Amino acid sequence: MMWTKRWRLSVANAANNPDPGRLVLGIESSCDESAAAVVEDGRRVLSSVVASQIKDHAPFGGVVPELASRRHLENLSPVVTSALSQAQLTLDDISGVAVTQGPGLIGALLIGLNLAKALAWSRGLPMVGVSHLEGHLAALGLCQEPPPYPFMALLVSGGHTSIFLVRGPGGQQELGSTVDDAAGEAFDKVAKLYGLGYPGGVIIDRMAAQGDPSVIKLPRPRMHDGTLDFSFSGLKSAVVRFREQNQGQSYRMEDLCAGFQEAVVEVLVKKTLTAAKEQGVRHLALAGGVAANHRLRQAMAQAAGEAGFGVTLPPLELCTDNAAMIAAAGCHHLRAGKRLSLEADAISRLPRGGALPGEPAA
Ligand code: KG4
Ligand code: ZN
Repeated sequence: MMWTKRWRLSVANAANNPDPGRLVLGIESSCDESAAAVVEDGRRVLSSVVASQIKDHAPFGGVVPELASRRHLENLSPVVTSALSQAQLTLDDISGVAVTQGPGLIGALLIGLNLAKALAWSRGLPMVGVSHLEGHLAALGLCQEPPPYPFMALLVSGGHTSIFLVRGPGGQQELGSTVDDAAGEAFDKVAKLYGLGYPGGVIIDRMAAQGDPSVIKLPRPRMHDGTLDFSFSGLKSAVVRFREQNQGQSYRMEDLCAGFQEAVVEVLVKKTLTAAKEQGVRHLALAGGVAANHRLRQAMAQAAGEAGFGVTLPPLELCTDNAAMIAAAGCHHLRAGKRLSLEADAISRLPRGGALPGEPAA
């Protein structure tokens, strides 16, 4: 009965819905932001609503998975309603639904996935699952001036640090990634070690601006190892050792933040530039939460300028988690005929490369 009804709805909808990518509702709940957005034609953001859980997790110095799921359960539905009303639309106007399927916290992902399934099923709308990593890359297409293809993207967030060669929409190839901690994770762990607050990246960024990066020298992990991979856990350990060895000594926290940040930024920029030169690509781009870092933006722009390359530095709201990027990535897949079945599960960890398993076209 249920399947017959769904099939009828889908058929009816397909007839009146020749372009499923026209007005896409995006839903994101992979970590600690409950987000929904409506994007027109994969390009124009009609609304983007983000309910942050930072205040809920701050007392714990990091994201508490169970708490994140509970907050998504409370927030996500009203966030979708706000995204629709800010776009001055109703669900009747939506042509397709895109939802983050992974990677991320499994409980958190499931809240978004099940909401998307319920909305898509009840309206007979086509639905696609989107890789959160591809979403971050698709955010670049929402910039006022999107980067020209092909470009080399550095995707740096709390969960990921990767270099992607992006040849076209949905056409990304991972050339290198972290073998342990992500860059944002390193920022957050160092901030936690010193009790600076959560999330650590923003705080270290702010303090580093008042510090001198040459006072406290820290190692540049894997800087000259000839690969495009990163490692940040050793750098975090170097900060732990520095702290132990300098207990009772006076040093400025601002200088430590600047020294740590400089070590991270130098490795990130050098490897992205190397990747671009190796592949003959002349445009660089930043994506992900750490792309909000002021020093990283400055250093990347400078390196690009010196090499004669172009560079795209997205506005801050497109760096951190949002659902507009999921809708933008979803638009491409919806138009290509990819579909997510109602039986599909959330995927907490994706294999190297960050791609979701292929779904047969509906
Ligand atoms: O992309 P995002 O919002 O969520 C994930 O997909 O992980 O990234 C969050 C990460 C956190 O680790 C946060 O500390 C870091 O981005 N971050 C920053 C800055 N703003 C956010 N790291 C360094 N400098 C910043 N200004
Ligand atoms: Zn993210």
